[in-house]
Amino acid sequence: MDDFLKRLPKAELHLHIEGTLEPELMFALAGRNGIALPYDSVEAVRAAYDFSDLQSFLDLYYQGMSVLRTAEDFHDLAMDYFRRAHGEGVVHVELHFDPQAHQARGIELETVMEGLGQARRQAERELGLSTALIMAFLRDRPAEEAMGLLERAAPYWETLDAVGLDSAERGHPPSKFREVFERARLLGIPRVAHAGEEGPPAYIREALDLLDVCRIDHGVRCIEDPKLVARLRDEGVVLTVCPLSNVRLRVVERLEDHPLPQLLDAGLRLTLNSDDPAYFGGGMLDNFRACYRTFGWSKEVFIQLAGTAIEAAFMSETRRLALHRQLADCA
Ligand code: ADE
Ligand code: ZN
Repeated sequence: MDDFLKRLPKAELHLHIEGTLEPELMFALAGRNGIALPYDSVEAVRAAYDFSDLQSFLDLYYQGMSVLRTAEDFHDLAMDYFRRAHGEGVVHVELHFDPQAHQARGIELETVMEGLGQARRQAERELGLSTALIMAFLRDRPAEEAMGLLERAAPYWETLDAVGLDSAERGHPPSKFREVFERARLLGIPRVAHAGEEGPPAYIREALDLLDVCRIDHGVRCIEDPKLVARLRDEGVVLTVCPLSNVRLRVVERLEDHPLPQLLDAGLRLTLNSDDPAYFGGGMLDNFRACYRTFGWSKEVFIQLAGTAIEAAFMSETRRLALHRQLADCA
């Protein structure tokens, strides 16, 4: 089974590129940029990754990214991740990135786009990895700031595969960003949003009804609302679920308590993803392995999950067909 899970062509639809920053690279970049870290060693960084909720993680996540300053840093961050993902049998990566968090530190959007763009082209060329780019708005910042970012991103509208919504969910409902997402819709940019990670099922409804998203990131708290589950099934809405993230951020106590099996039984379209692999103790393969160990799913279930990810990905139809073929060969 382990060999099968590794060979399975996995498309990752929910990943924050800043959340792939391993402590080793954090130290290397801190050294290169002359930045002092509040840790003595790589082990001390890892030891600090003991989270009680989403906010306690976000505090370290925003602190960790302070070492990213130049286009080369963003390139190295992304390439480091693409190489690891490729080694785990990942064939397509959709990366969220958080421009407002960088802007707040004086790092311009152009710098981030240049570094990520170089890495994406290199990954395609050297690893055969396809990628997509999702520009995320920070929901705990004002909607006006998000609108400003969307306008500033005008030179890149054509290169964005989607816009997303992330950061601290509680108290920041999707409705706050209705106009920003409406503007993105008019520009022809697809939309996704985190909803129902820590926030209530009502936020999932709002994301669908007010932000017109084509996928929900996380969405696991839909399980509390049977009518919503029925709606998600009827409308074929895809949830990008992140099992190990949900355990580490205490959305569920243990993976055994995760609603994944119930959501699958209810006929929802689900994908498995890593979210912030450097912080949550594992990448795509670890998430697939953990689900196998905990739920004992058959190969067919994993093929279904991998197939849904290929169906729901932002990629060319040629690429989609090639990956569906690769998946069929794997079975
Ligand atoms: N930003 C990075 N990881 C996140 C998560 N799991 N939820 C919300 N915002 C995030
Ligand atoms: Zn996320």
